Amino acid sequence: MNSPKPVLIHSVKEMQTICRNLSQTIGFVPTMGYLHEGHLSLVKAAKDKAEIVIVSIYVNPTQFSPNEDLSSYPRDPDRDIQLLSELDVDYIFFPSNEEMYPAGFKTWVAVEEITQILCGKSRSTHFKGVTTIVAKLMNIIDPDFMLLGEKDFQQLKVLQQMGKDLNFSTEIIGCPLIREKDGLAMSSRNKYLSPQERKDALCLHNSLLLAQKLFSEGMTASSKIIAAMRDLIVQNKGRIDYIEVIDTDSLESLDELRSGCRIVLAVYIGKTRLIDNVMIKYYQ
Ligand code: PAF
Repeated sequence: MNSPKPVLIHSVKEMQTICRNLSQTIGFVPTMGYLHEGHLSLVKAAKDKAEIVIVSIYVNPTQFSPNEDLSSYPRDPDRDIQLLSELDVDYIFFPSNEEMYPAGFKTWVAVEEITQILCGKSRSTHFKGVTTIVAKLMNIIDPDFMLLGEKDFQQLKVLQQMGKDLNFSTEIIGCPLIREKDGLAMSSRNKYLSPQERKDALCLHNSLLLAQKLFSEGMTASSKIIAAMRDLIVQNKGRIDYIEVIDTDSLESLDELRSGCRIVLAVYIGKTRLIDNVMIKYYQ
């Protein structure tokens, strides 16, 4: 008799043993829970690619710095499990801190250079926490495919770099950012926004739409486009951490926009730090 799905696994050893004994292809979606349509789109993509789908739910403490929102990070495991069972996920890996970082833990995985720019400037230890936990999860699950959202565009590139440099056999696939109907990028942190801040937060997407419009009208200087975006964000009470025009592959900053480049930004709305990005396209 088959056990009811999804099977909830808490132990590293048990998850590793199950995965080692599976003969089917595995699609893996790492999450910190409090799932929204963005996560669910990754699960659906994993189901299209692989025979078995595994989702991890783990709020990884090492990717938060002491002044960040680890203790208040939203959590609702019962709802998460319900949503994943509706999607017929096979396994949920739901470890404790003791399982993931047992006493005596001493090893870290760090990607250089591309972790020190953009989000890495204001969150200096963040990516070391992300690469370490994802390397651990990949070693436990050894998936054929790992699906990540393009909302965290820098995270996607950092993890792809790690996968390549450390010869992980997993294919790391970026999936499109999912937006609310009014354009706000879906994020678990949107929960922190007051009704007024929720309205103000639209300035992130609106500034990216403005950038695309200016580029379509012939403006290409990054400095001019960023200045226009800044004005729009500041008028809507956003506090800018960074806005950058970057090369989609190398993440290097560009002085001129070109079709296929990306604009990435991080903005505080009240106390909530939100990120967003878009790929700039040339429309004829
Ligand atoms: O994007 C996230 O939710 C996290 O950074 C990840 C990839 C699950 C690692 O903790």
